[in-house]
Amino acid sequence: MDDNKRASDFVDEDRLWRRQMYLATFGETPKGGVNRQALSAEEIDARKVLMDWSNELGLTAFVDDIGNLFFRHEGLDPTLAPVMTGSHIDSQPTGGKFDGSYGVVAAFEVIEAIKESGIELERSLEVAVWLNEEGSRFAPGMMGSEAYAGVRSLQDMLPVRDKDGISVADALPAALAATPDATRRKFGDPVYAFLEAHIEQGPILEAEEKVVGVVTGIQGVRRMRVRVTGEEAHAGTTPTAERKDAIQSAAEIVTQLYAQINDDPETKFTIGMMDITPNVPSVISSEVLFSIDIRHPDSDYLERLANKTETICIALQDICTVEVWRIAESDSVFFDENMTEAVEEACVNTQIPYRRMFSAAGHDARQLSYMCPTAMIFIPCEKGISHNEAENATSRDLYDGARVLADVMTKLGNATDTNSKES
Ligand code: GLV
Ligand code: MN
Ligand code: MN
Repeated sequence: MDDNKRASDFVDEDRLWRRQMYLATFGETPKGGVNRQALSAEEIDARKVLMDWSNELGLTAFVDDIGNLFFRHEGLDPTLAPVMTGSHIDSQPTGGKFDGSYGVVAAFEVIEAIKESGIELERSLEVAVWLNEEGSRFAPGMMGSEAYAGVRSLQDMLPVRDKDGISVADALPAALAATPDATRRKFGDPVYAFLEAHIEQGPILEAEEKVVGVVTGIQGVRRMRVRVTGEEAHAGTTPTAERKDAIQSAAEIVTQLYAQINDDPETKFTIGMMDITPNVPSVISSEVLFSIDIRHPDSDYLERLANKTETICIALQDICTVEVWRIAESDSVFFDENMTEAVEEACVNTQIPYRRMFSAAGHDARQLSYMCPTAMIFIPCEKGISHNEAENATSRDLYDGARVLADVMTKLGNATDTNSKES
């Protein structure tokens, strides 16, 4: 092997962009975004595309019981744990072309570049495609990476239903059937290191004219549901004093939460979903079910905010009853310093402007960081817009992010020490 060869020199900008745009046609929306929710027909079609790419590159495909996909480029020593990279291909219903899918497309591009370079690595490289990161159809998300890392059990996930009553267990067989040639793999197979390339989904890199964000960790989140229960009654005849109007009570709770929880610029408080029953104009509503998503980098402070949220909801219980419960909670995580430094080193060597940053959005990398050294590579997205059909990024930035990824993957692929969690 020519020691001076760098995998980053073999990354192909056009090839990467073509794959990115092709994947975006699966679930494309009229406004230029993507609706490719987990286990939907569109997502299953996209899985077949990944399988085609894998076959073209001569990779070996694996699938596990929750539908995570893995595509493996064999190393010189197949007994060593692989270096893994990837993300997710599911999207929000009004999602963009890049969230998640960039990490998957970049992973394929890096493997193709390394193959073309002729660089041989001790360790195998794997593309990972995690199921249902977004959690818009089946909540909460991160199912694939949580199952793989043993954070949540398959038994907890299979009964989760979408709004039409279809469960994960109902929807999964069609996805598994779409990749019949993939060998079954068990959860938790050792991973030497994990890297996830992703758009930043925020405005910092663009504003500072940096191309790569070297991610140091991911902020914590609490996800909750609140159910306000009143009583259906006639809109015209029911005296005001006798009404148990769930919308009216919910409106008061929502107003108080926004006023009292959104207390500092670091707190991110969102009510993104509200289901009203029966949701017709002339009936007083009997139920409002709504979601709460609270994030803060300080885990203790975040927990206090979650407790305060529960207290506010219950204190405002009056004519209507109020229930509040948590569906997911995670504290801030901090990535392995050696991994962060490896990403920085690759940025320096490729002369790509970078800065360190903490991720405000959630990612599958969180779960992988519980089982192996992990890092993330962010690239800018236009005006920081994401979870929106207008999400956009430049071909050049995608390319530069993949170049950094290629060099870090190469370095890790030749690491012959064992990490403490490898065997
Ligand atoms: C992930 O998509 C998140 O909501 O942070
Ligand atoms: Mn994502
Ligand atoms: Mn997302």
